[in-house]
Amino acid sequence: MPFPLKAQDRTLILGHRGAKGYAPENTFPSFQKALELGVDMIELDVHITRDGEIVVCHDDSLERTTGLRKLIGELTWEEIRKLDAGKWFGPEFAGAKIPLLEEVLSWAKGKIPVVVEIKRGFGEREDIVERTIEVIRACGMEGDVEVISFDHRFVKKAKEIAPEIAGGILYVGTLVDPVRAARDAHADALHPHFAYVDRELVEQAHAAGLAVSTWVVNDPETARLLASWGVDCIGSDYPDRVKKALERL
Ligand code: G3P
Ligand code: CA
Repeated sequence: MPFPLKAQDRTLILGHRGAKGYAPENTFPSFQKALELGVDMIELDVHITRDGEIVVCHDDSLERTTGLRKLIGELTWEEIRKLDAGKWFGPEFAGAKIPLLEEVLSWAKGKIPVVVEIKRGFGEREDIVERTIEVIRACGMEGDVEVISFDHRFVKKAKEIAPEIAGGILYVGTLVDPVRAARDAHADALHPHFAYVDRELVEQAHAAGLAVSTWVVNDPETARLLASWGVDCIGSDYPDRVKKALERL
């Protein structure tokens, strides 16, 4: 299993929100599709409901994927589980639900490692990190999960509570000192947007024992260039395209 990510003999492929290009993001059809496409790991996003359940959804608002103009933090799990998060993508996906993290991790166990991105949702409870770790531990997935976030304090908190679970810092831009930023959050990996990756960053990270996992790459040429620099993992909405491109390297 690839966590914590180490410099690999090949670049791993991550299915972004499952296989977001082919199925409604962050739902079971999307995760199943990613698995069928042969990804090395899947990525998903989590928020916390009003009653403390960890749900798998990208936005803090339910409007884009379910049509309901409410925030996740305002509703209970009982209310959210009734929503349809599939039909916006296509009628064939009608009935797909917003899953609990627990449901996805139970399904993934023994099948596929999971990158869990903890989102900062407007007005949401502050115990999202603690609750997420509880779910990961309850599912026995500590060794097969990486916790990542744009909120580096979340990563730091996760690593303080659960040093055995891999952690990574997400960012868009060029950090003055990426190794220092990772160390400050006790992170094992950098997760920069691909536009801010170059060979020097990869070398600097590897020399410090950090992995580099980048996103979201849908263009085969870009994927090949990143892989030639030794990037450890590439996230894609169309993981099959990246896989094909890297097979021809
Ligand atoms: O894997 C990182 C990537 O998912 C971050 O961007 O907005 O798709 O969550 P976003
Ligand atoms: Ca994400």
